[in-house]
Amino acid sequence: MPDSPSDTIPDPSTPQDKTAANALWGGRFAGGPAAIMQEINASIGFDQRMWRQDIAGSRAHAAMLAAKGIISDADLADITRGLDQVAAEIEAGSFVFDIAHEDIHMSVEARLIALVGDAGRRLHTARSRNDQVALDVRLWVRDAIDQIDVQVADVMRALVDQAERHHDLPMPGFTHLQIGQPVTFGHHMMAYVEMLGRDRSRFADARTRLNECPLGAAALAGTSFPIDRHMTARALGFDRPMANSLDAVSDRDYALEFLSAASTCAIHLSRLAEEIVIWMSAPWRFIRLSDAFTTGSSIMPQKRNPDAAELVRAKTGRVTGAFVALSMVMKGLPLTYGKDMQEDKEPLFDAADSLALSLAATAGMVRDMVPDPTNLRRWAGAGFATATDLADWLVRTLNLPFRTAHHVTGRLVAMAEAKGTDLEGLTLADMQSVEPRITREVFGVLSVESSVASRSCHGGTAPANVAAQAAAWRARLAA
Ligand code: ARG
Repeated sequence: MPDSPSDTIPDPSTPQDKTAANALWGGRFAGGPAAIMQEINASIGFDQRMWRQDIAGSRAHAAMLAAKGIISDADLADITRGLDQVAAEIEAGSFVFDIAHEDIHMSVEARLIALVGDAGRRLHTARSRNDQVALDVRLWVRDAIDQIDVQVADVMRALVDQAERHHDLPMPGFTHLQIGQPVTFGHHMMAYVEMLGRDRSRFADARTRLNECPLGAAALAGTSFPIDRHMTARALGFDRPMANSLDAVSDRDYALEFLSAASTCAIHLSRLAEEIVIWMSAPWRFIRLSDAFTTGSSIMPQKRNPDAAELVRAKTGRVTGAFVALSMVMKGLPLTYGKDMQEDKEPLFDAADSLALSLAATAGMVRDMVPDPTNLRRWAGAGFATATDLADWLVRTLNLPFRTAHHVTGRLVAMAEAKGTDLEGLTLADMQSVEPRITREVFGVLSVESSVASRSCHGGTAPANVAAQAAAWRARLAA
């Protein structure tokens, strides 16, 4: 005689007869799933990495059920002991993940039931896998944001170090990848610090909005049990429970927001990576990366390739692709849960992994790279880079309208180009043949150093500005 009615339910822990009905939900099923059904349905292959979140959610749920008298304290003690054991087994690698248990939620629950029996069977009271998975993914994304935030800050610190060291090192600034005006290497580094700072705030925004707890929405309508959703929300570090049960189980906007912020961040890293690739190329030689961040060629012995930068550049496609993939999964889905939403995880995990790897590689490269002052200085002044300084001088000193000054300067550039020299190589007589009022003082604004030093407006490239910006960010990043 079975000693409790639930003992007549098949034991979900025993290796499944693949033709048998599912032990957790198969009451009305006479047969098991086709092999292909099981294969397309199962997510255990990839969602097992949410095991910590799943167990944390179950602990909070069980504690609340006991506090509200929905399960007994003895059941809670059994569930807690069982979950401890499940966690230990997964941690140790001895837990057997079986496709018959479909996903991480059913795998943990099945093992719990095998370990503690009926107490384990009571855990799913007032809960559904729909609010359970919504909770687990939310917790997972929150953890991912916290980890990525630390990594973005680390890249920023590496950039600030370079900026402080090279706050006054001139380099060419580009538009259209044509030499525009001289800037400093430090200023260029600090541009990325600003971008990554905004990335952090985008992740922080996403975290604030996601930090509401879906647990207790149950399947979709809420539950008739007297649960305390505020208690579970608090226990899991959420600001509050979500207000609408349908919304709680059906939206994945928090994952989309995370992927959108991740995509923007990856795009920033990709632009820096592209610059590293260009700067490493011999005709440029703006920077050097050491053996630690380059690879050789199997055929060309002289080669030093910036593979890490190229891969950071390429991984952006995966991160942005994940955002697009999940957007397509979610668009047009009727409320509430649909199994479609199981497809949120692989792109999400892949994007988070790719971004984490890209951030680590970028931090490494930024710390490793050494600018070449001779080349940077040389190209900073090339291509008539101080032509704007000449035009500005004409405006300031001769009171020419800027458009007129632009035209005069253009003629002087053409003259220098024809003579095969730069603007500093023109004689005063050359200059005066175009604009007779030009004086010798003009030569004071044509050097690269005077050009960058003069750009002292808020946000400009003047070395003093760059040093101050770097110091301010260093202090913010230390806090
Ligand atoms: N593995 C599922 C997912 O990732 C869990 C939720 C399943 N819910 C359901 N009603 N079948 O979405």
